[in-house]
Amino acid sequence: MLAPPPPRYFAHRGGGTLAPENTLAGIRLAARLGYRAVEFDVMLSGSGTPVLIHDETLERTTNGSGAVATTDDAALFALDAGGEPPPRFAQAVRLCGEFGLLANVEVKPASGFERQTAQRVAAEVRADWLASPLLFSSFSRTALQVLQAEIPDLPRAWLLAALPDDWRAEARRLGVVALHLDLALVTPALVRECAGLGLAVRAYTLQTPALADYLFGIGVAGVFVDPLDRFLPQALADRS
Ligand code: G3P
Ligand code: MG
Repeated sequence: MLAPPPPRYFAHRGGGTLAPENTLAGIRLAARLGYRAVEFDVMLSGSGTPVLIHDETLERTTNGSGAVATTDDAALFALDAGGEPPPRFAQAVRLCGEFGLLANVEVKPASGFERQTAQRVAAEVRADWLASPLLFSSFSRTALQVLQAEIPDLPRAWLLAALPDDWRAEARRLGVVALHLDLALVTPALVRECAGLGLAVRAYTLQTPALADYLFGIGVAGVFVDPLDRFLPQALADRS
């Protein structure tokens, strides 16, 4: 569960732009700098193992090629994702626990694997990580629905790059506690309306501290940041 209030600054993709994305090194860096929360992306390998990676294909962030969903564990964990293999979800959660970091687990299924990805993540959480500080999020309504059914007591946020007409009803149906919104969607009126609906708002992805100050001023609860060093010492002061 989240001990209220949760941290406001989330290091995006582990170490933001200061480390290879979605790596254990990035998470360590965020912790070392004083961050109390990190966000990372989780997808299934071809063997069905939840791993940290953003893209459906390997080219951009590893020395491999092809689809993550068709690469088995033996091949995937032999790759270089920036000085280390792509981390397993379990390794990342364990490391966050060691550092006392809140982990925002973005369930990022490859297309067609929405249900399966959320099921596998939920199964690992139920087996080992139920007591860990975890906040789940996803762009996928299906994934959120599966998480709601499988691990209902752990908080979920709905990621949106655009606001669909049915967002209010869907947020209620999915039982999310927050909307994680593209910066371009965030307005004072929307943040107020969300507050009235009991929804926190967090915004992705920030490059400048001045913008964070503005967003907190209009009631935004949290921000996902890329250049981690530019948000110091604010992120360091982000202590409850
Ligand atoms: O969870 C916030 C942010 O990570 C969503 O966008 O593409 O960086 O995963 P993306
Ligand atoms: Mg993400």
